[in-house]
Amino acid sequence: MMAGLLLTALITGEECAWSGLYDPRRLAPAVREAPSFLKHQAQVARHFVGDRLRPAPPAEALPPGEGAVVRTEGGRLAVYRDDAGTLHAVSARCTHLGCLVDFNAAERAWECPCHGSRFDTDGKVIQGPATRPLEQRDI
Ligand code: FES
Repeated sequence: MMAGLLLTALITGEECAWSGLYDPRRLAPAVREAPSFLKHQAQVARHFVGDRLRPAPPAEALPPGEGAVVRTEGGRLAVYRDDAGTLHAVSARCTHLGCLVDFNAAERAWECPCHGSRFDTDGKVIQGPATRPLEQRDI
């Protein structure tokens, strides 16, 4: 419908309020957005590399209701201890683009600092852009 309205306006020479929005030659907004886009990409790179260098606590030290990314022989795991004391482990690699998730104690959820995906304590997706759950792991 939008294409029909725009094409009609172009053919008849009418002014169309949205024509600039759909103009394929609109470059100015991309140039204007470049600094914030680059800043965001730098933050993603910092998390992607820096979070892998951060020290990790042992899973045994987690109190009930807490979670943390721990280092194991099989890689980094996102481990959560429920109120009954049972440990739940999932892969710490976000299924969107591979950043390491962080634990949000207030929400009891795993959150990705790169693009904002959120997962429950068993790895199920709460909010995208990730569409696949964090892989279950044994601990
Ligand atoms: S890498 Fe996790 S949301 Fe993009």
